[in-house]
Amino acid sequence: AQPVASTRLSARLRQAHAIADLRSLAARRLPRAVFDFIDGGAEDERTLRDNVEAFDGWMLMPRVGVDVARRDLTRPILGATSSLPLMMAPTGLAGFFWPDGEVAGARAAARAGIPYCLSTNSVASIEHVAAGAPDGERWFQLYFLRDRDWMQALLARAAAAHYRVLCLTVDLAVQGRRERDLRNAFTMPLRPRLATAFDLARRPGWLAGVARSRLGFGNFEAAGGGFTSVAQHVASLFDPSANWDDIARIREHWRGPMALKGILHPADAEKAVALGIEAVIVSNHGGRQLDDVPAAIEALPDVAAAVAGRAEIILDGGVRRGTDVVKALALGATACSMGRPFLWGLSAGGTEGVSRAIEIFRSELDNAMTLLGTPTLADITRDHVRERKGGG
Ligand code: FNR
Repeated sequence: AQPVASTRLSARLRQAHAIADLRSLAARRLPRAVFDFIDGGAEDERTLRDNVEAFDGWMLMPRVGVDVARRDLTRPILGATSSLPLMMAPTGLAGFFWPDGEVAGARAAARAGIPYCLSTNSVASIEHVAAGAPDGERWFQLYFLRDRDWMQALLARAAAAHYRVLCLTVDLAVQGRRERDLRNAFTMPLRPRLATAFDLARRPGWLAGVARSRLGFGNFEAAGGGFTSVAQHVASLFDPSANWDDIARIREHWRGPMALKGILHPADAEKAVALGIEAVIVSNHGGRQLDDVPAAIEALPDVAAAVAGRAEIILDGGVRRGTDVVKALALGATACSMGRPFLWGLSAGGTEGVSRAIEIFRSELDNAMTLLGTPTLADITRDHVRERKGGG
């Protein structure tokens, strides 16, 4: 028989019918400082809000009289068939949200048949995640490191552990100013403070699980332990001098397909295509880096026009509904990538929670395609969306 706690968890997850419900569950389970690290963005969080709200600027335009009795939601992404036009974005520190969180997420992705992208800043190592979720489609996300030998070693380890796609993130020369983290004095592990102690007393589930975990940045040599803020980690190890020549060298070096993450300007998308990069990820890092940049969905049409079918385009940021996925595809994206929706699921219930998030997207997307009159993803065209006029 299932333990009572796990039966209760399954029941709570079954009652989550929208991604927002999983966010509420995550807020209850996580310490406030950890929840804020996931939820927050840079400075005034305008881009964070815009990422979500800019989807409201587009309306769906259904067509009738189409046979929609059978739908096909599968999509090839960089040569591998995904059961849905979506993937799990790379997100650091997952093992701080749920015990062995990276493996929990990768397992849910593998079960559902969608790609999982492991972050450079994971708690679990490249090899540990590969061993824990051996069957899935795995991508590895790389940041430019000051220590180029270590960076090359990470690439070699990712290739040896059969990560098929390299995702190079180029929008984090330094970390954005995330004021929630500054105010919370957020570190991994949490630095003992009086305010935190009261909060932790209300999160026994998280405490019990994560207290048993070995916390640290698993892809780096033990950096002396202690309480590390992500901003300190980034400032000491990441290389802000990296330029297009460095990107070109990585493109030459990596044998599999490669995605460039953090593109907003169409001219940068052009440069990526010229280097032979196979996918452009239109992204502002979920509103966590430079505030006041365009929402991902706002930047998409110009990037799609510049790329003109020469590379795949992944829309990343603010996707919370199946209808958002439809809008992104109508405006030229091959697929969408999501960060927080899966992290809320993970924080609410580990593998089961992430599976629930994927299920919600699957049923919403299927419902939207049926009612829109587009039984396959290829049927979704620019004509299925209209820009909302007179919006503010
Ligand atoms: C991220 N993101 C991110 N991106 C990346 O390339 N490497 C990383 O290590 C991380 N880490 C990370 C941690 C957390 C907690 C979040 C929320 C995000 C950005 C991520 O890949 C993605 O771009 C955004 O999450 C997309 O926005 P949504 O889907 O969260 O709105």
